Amino acid sequence: MAELILPLDQPSQRDALALVDDLGEAVDFYKVGLELFTREGPSVVRALHGRGKRVFLDLKLLDIPNTVARAARAAADLDVELLTLHATGGRAMMEAAAEAVASTSRRTRLLAVTVLTSFTPDGLGETWGRSIHEVGEEVTRLARLARECGIHGVVSSAHEVARLRAALGPDALLVTPGIRLAGGAAHDQARVATPDRAVRDGADYLVVGRAITAARDRPAALAQVLELMGAPA
Ligand code: C5P
Repeated sequence: MAELILPLDQPSQRDALALVDDLGEAVDFYKVGLELFTREGPSVVRALHGRGKRVFLDLKLLDIPNTVARAARAAADLDVELLTLHATGGRAMMEAAAEAVASTSRRTRLLAVTVLTSFTPDGLGETWGRSIHEVGEEVTRLARLARECGIHGVVSSAHEVARLRAALGPDALLVTPGIRLAGGAAHDQARVATPDRAVRDGADYLVVGRAITAARDRPAALAQVLELMGAPA
């Protein structure tokens, strides 16, 4: 059964926890990203755990293997359930991170970010110094490399989920942002999908922010997302 993760795209722990308390029992898994973690640090993770919530720490780590391994271990020591790193850090970095996390015997699972969805083929070609015909091919290639290195899954746009599920098989964790209700505002997301489509394509976790938080009736939007996911509301 696919699960919902709500991103805490708030500037402070106070604002983030106000949202968590507003949503109450209905949401139990939250994503803490770079802004909130940089401002508040581990305290926000502890505050979420204190409320019985699960945490996805979206730090998109990228550095030399030793540094990433140590940072991944520090995140695992916080007992976060999901942690991101960049697949472009390469084999040695991903293997070191996977080993470091496994050595903690915590529940932390690692997710690779392959190609940021903000890249166009031209922008990626300029960065990598070769022409890129299809970003999707690079996404699949990097996702396979990540799996070979012991990384548990991948964060991907909803439009790539079906292709990644086919390429990686049933055991890979697939986490998908860019979810919108039919007819809802896309905001700054270019490649959106509805919750039912993402689940049908094979996503395990849907990261759903503004489709719920910006809705006039939050509980109704949340119930609709959960219903479309086939999850109990
Ligand atoms: O509000 P919305 O549902 O668009 O929020 C999506 C969340 O997922 C945000 O925290 C955003 O930073 C994150 N994200 C994304 N697109 C990606 C990767 C992460 O929207 N490609």
